Amino acid sequence: MQRSVFFFSLFAALQILVAAQIPPATCQQAAPNQTVLHLPSANVSVPTSPWGLAYVSDGVAFISLGAFVGVLNTSTCTSHLIRTIKLPKYSIHSDGSTDDNGAAELTMSKNRKEVWVSLGPGAIVLDVEKALCGHEDAIIGELITPMFSSATQIVLSIDESYAFISQEYGSNATRGRGGVQVFEVNRERNGTISGIYIGFTELQYAVNGMALSADGKNIYVTSEATLASLMHHKDRGILSVLDVERLKFTPSKALKVSVDAGCEPVRVAVSPDGSSVWVTARASNHLVVFDATKLTTMQHYDAQIATVQVGTSPIGLVFVNGGRQIITADSNRNNFRNATTGLTVVDIDSALSGKQKFARVHTGLFPRSFSLSPDGNTLLVSQFDSNAIQSINLALFSRGQKHHAL
Ligand SMILES: *[C@@H]1O[C@H](CO)[C@@H](O)[C@H](O)[C@H]1NC(C)=O
Ligand SMILES: *[C@@H]1O[C@H](CO)[C@@H](O)[C@H](O)[C@H]1NC(C)=O
Ligand SMILES: *[C@@H]1O[C@H](CO)[C@@H](O)[C@H](O)[C@H]1NC(C)=O
Ligand SMILES: *[C@@H]1O[C@H](CO)[C@@H](O)[C@H](O)[C@H]1NC(C)=O
Ligand SMILES: *[C@@H]1O[C@H](CO)[C@@H](O)[C@H](O)[C@H]1NC(C)=O
Ligand SMILES: *[C@@H]1O[C@H](CO)[C@@H](O)[C@H](O)[C@H]1NC(C)=O
Repeated sequence: MQRSVFFFSLFAALQILVAAQIPPATCQQAAPNQTVLHLPSANVSVPTSPWGLAYVSDGVAFISLGAFVGVLNTSTCTSHLIRTIKLPKYSIHSDGSTDDNGAAELTMSKNRKEVWVSLGPGAIVLDVEKALCGHEDAIIGELITPMFSSATQIVLSIDESYAFISQEYGSNATRGRGGVQVFEVNRERNGTISGIYIGFTELQYAVNGMALSADGKNIYVTSEATLASLMHHKDRGILSVLDVERLKFTPSKALKVSVDAGCEPVRVAVSPDGSSVWVTARASNHLVVFDATKLTTMQHYDAQIATVQVGTSPIGLVFVNGGRQIITADSNRNNFRNATTGLTVVDIDSALSGKQKFARVHTGLFPRSFSLSPDGNTLLVSQFDSNAIQSINLALFSRGQKHHAL
């Protein structure tokens, strides 16, 4: 008996020691310089600041362009804009003023027939075929709740019958806290999509990034700062794990756990094998990596498995090359004079074994979001302040990676 207590205490002490080996990411202004990685790339100019991106096929992608969504022909090396589709404009404030944030991140349905656009009070759904052909009725759904105005990202449940939308600043009733807006999704016989508003999960401040766990049971959500950190004049945020079944019926009770995720965590992605969860901590210039299993157990306090230095103010992140590398969009959105923008390419195995190797690809101003082509050979990057989309050819890089770890 005493013996097992002793071993239990030893085990607990060892766990704390192990946990202490990976200190939480601290805040950092300009990131250290990195070696340059040259990959073939081309730019296409667009009429306004581009944000979300979503490939339909290797030859076509959608992009968010403020009050419009654009259709991009990506079948040649230099992609070009085929057309734009005007989005509804919502008058949401009591004084009649409208929300000007425009379209944020895009989400593609699994069958690639619907594009979900994050916009102000919720989600706009476009029919891909109709949008490609330029039909006037391409907008087939408006899932909105007037009390919200800051939709950033949409995650669909695994069977796509629920939509979860991050509302960065919440509503007039949440005292500045953001959270997740929940809709039940109905696909009508006439091809339209409607939603029943279920409710809201209130989290901490500036809620943006979301990702579904591999088994579809949990949603990971970032909050840039907690109340406690703001009281200490710091923006230290969290990664929260929400229970999907609870989100469907009682969103206010869906929060399972929250863990420290560095300074201003803003986006999250799950590794293709589902085992790890990667967060961009924008004001830490780091990726903060968690063990997906531990996040949902009593050991969540010990779930952080690595922190990886990247460039300045990373936002978007994407797994490439079958999950062997992850690329971050280092936005330098605060325009530190001693920093540059870039795309950091991180080798996953090296990063997780502590032998970090990374290199930076040149890009434009305020790189923000990514979409990887279905064949994995082309990466699109939105350059928000350059009014351009960069198209990077990964084909040779991926082939080279099979022989030489980065
Ligand atoms: C990084 O490189 C840039 C451009 O070469 C240079 O201007 C800057 O001083 C460097 N920063 C650091 C911290 O070394
Ligand atoms: C994209 O451009 C190529 C080359 O100009 C053309 O052959 C193709 O039909 C275009 N695709 C669409 C969907 O417009
Ligand atoms: C919040 O806004 C909604 C919709 O504009 C309004 O009906 C509601 O009364 C407001 N609530 C508060 C607490 O101000
Ligand atoms: C489609 O069906 C739904 C539900 O029956 C209905 O509310 C909607 O008005 C219909 N839309 C069109 C364009 O026919
Ligand atoms: C970079 O510039 C910021 C101000 O923009 C300054 O506070 C910081 O100390 C500088 N960092 C380095 C490494 O030079
Ligand atoms: C794309 O544009 C950025 C700036 O907007 C520039 O730095 C980069 O060199 C351009 N790349 C190509 C291939 O033209």
